[in-house]
Amino acid sequence: MARHLITSAIPYINGIKHLGNLVGSQLPADLYARYLRGRGHEVLFLCATDEHGTPAELAAAKAGKPVAEYCAEMHAVQAEIAEGFGMSFDHFGRSSSLQNQKLTQHFAGVLADQGLIVEVTEKQVYSNADGRFLPDRYIEGTCPNCGFESARGDQCDNCTKQLDPVDLINPRSTISGSTDLEMRDTKHLFLRQSLMKDRLDAWINEKEDWPVLTTSIAKKWLHDGDGLQDRGITRDLSWGVPVKRGDAEWPGMEGKVFYVWFDAPIEYIASAQEWVDAGKGSDWERWWRTDKGADDVRYTQFMGKDNVPFHTLSFPATIMGSNEPWKLVDYIKSFNYLTYDGGQFSTSRGRGVFMDQALEILPADYWRWWLLSHAPETSDAEFTWENFQTSVNKDLADVLGNFVSRITKFCRSKFGEAVPQAGEYGAAEEALIADLTERVTRYQNLMDAVEVRKSAQELRAIWAAGNEYLQAQAPWTTFKTDPDKAAAQVRLALNLIPLYATLSAPFIPTAAASMLEAARTPDAGWPDDVPRALDRMAPGHEFDVPEVLFAKITDDDVAQWSVRFAGTRD
Ligand code: MF3
Ligand code: ZN
Repeated sequence: MARHLITSAIPYINGIKHLGNLVGSQLPADLYARYLRGRGHEVLFLCATDEHGTPAELAAAKAGKPVAEYCAEMHAVQAEIAEGFGMSFDHFGRSSSLQNQKLTQHFAGVLADQGLIVEVTEKQVYSNADGRFLPDRYIEGTCPNCGFESARGDQCDNCTKQLDPVDLINPRSTISGSTDLEMRDTKHLFLRQSLMKDRLDAWINEKEDWPVLTTSIAKKWLHDGDGLQDRGITRDLSWGVPVKRGDAEWPGMEGKVFYVWFDAPIEYIASAQEWVDAGKGSDWERWWRTDKGADDVRYTQFMGKDNVPFHTLSFPATIMGSNEPWKLVDYIKSFNYLTYDGGQFSTSRGRGVFMDQALEILPADYWRWWLLSHAPETSDAEFTWENFQTSVNKDLADVLGNFVSRITKFCRSKFGEAVPQAGEYGAAEEALIADLTERVTRYQNLMDAVEVRKSAQELRAIWAAGNEYLQAQAPWTTFKTDPDKAAAQVRLALNLIPLYATLSAPFIPTAAASMLEAARTPDAGWPDDVPRALDRMAPGHEFDVPEVLFAKITDDDVAQWSVRFAGTRD
């Protein structure tokens, strides 16, 4: 038994996430956590909401609520939806927690003690009417490139050109509309990542087993252009972790907060503290401090590719730079993007399926199966309703669901609702058992390697093997001439149900639980020994014929949903 720490990138608080967000972080992390628990390992699986920064302020303003209130509400909403998708977090924390505030200030203090923080004075846009500095997104003006009148300080949405607020013609504040803006000096803290470049480089180079997507992005940031840059870790905002040096004030930094990307990953640690403080665990240090036992922990992170620089470089720079014995990540699993029907998911345009809507129309397992079996691992993946329909109807309804329903119903009609006694296994049965034994080993190896799509493929093949066996042996035909032989066939097929349930639970936990319930094998442990696991339902063992496990998606459904989720403006 090993110990596994698993974290998923923490979703921004501003609004409900779409399926593309889900498939690149929380969902594969949950798959892995469930699998490892199923194999008997000790797992701590953490996530949280990412609550600071300009996007949170903007979203709260749009909702007409104080930002703290908005965040508390949205945290509850996101927690509920995550639960609806079956996320088995040990804790779903909040980056605005007191624990994270203290820890963030602690890291800033020790980094400063290590000589890794410099104070830099720079010029930024200040709005006299608003009495505050304006982040880039709070400034609008005319694009110098295309003349678009509502270009933002960081980018023109019309021609996509990256901008600097000073480039804008007739700049104005988006808060008040005021044009009374000026450039003012402001002091900020910079983390001297450039000093840690060699250390980070050596560390990344050790990671030969990491996905190429992860290491290639890290190396690009380390070596392209001028190499790894120092980065500003403070902002002139009011919503965030107040800048302090440990517990002490930081002269000249009053009224400023840490940059959201500085405090967000620290929440991975704070979430473990919150887990303990909530009474759900007893010792966070054995997960996070290498001087307190975390050396034995294997730590795996899950995220979309846009998050990779922050997890391969920035957060490790914080950890390493502290020179304190914090646990570093062992494996970073990153994902490409999921596109929606030939374009991007768009929050502002309501294009694509969002997590709450997904659960309104279908159970979580349908989504989990499609998303995981199409995870954008080696390239972007595209969601289309047709593809979704085919996958659900074929894999879940025709292969797995039909198998379970067919064999339990057939047994009931000919032998009653208990495993029949008669008959011996023959060559076909031995062959199936051998085939499954091999496939289960392959499945485990793929799951251990976090090969999400390939694991799904192998699982599907395991289901299909049962179906093919049933199709070829046709106990309903055998029964007419050799009822004992049919009984043996039925006995083996019934025993596939708890096996399939346990293997499938990481992907489709709800259906797996129904299968175990129907088989009346509640504590079916991991099938380390497949032949023995296939003896779990002994002759005489009673079972139930389950309700339909998966309903098919009709062409009508597809037609309706395609229209409903196409987006309002485009
Ligand atoms: N909120 C970020 C996003 O959704 C992810 C933050 S991950 C963390 O892209 F490491 F910063 F916590
Ligand atoms: Zn433009």
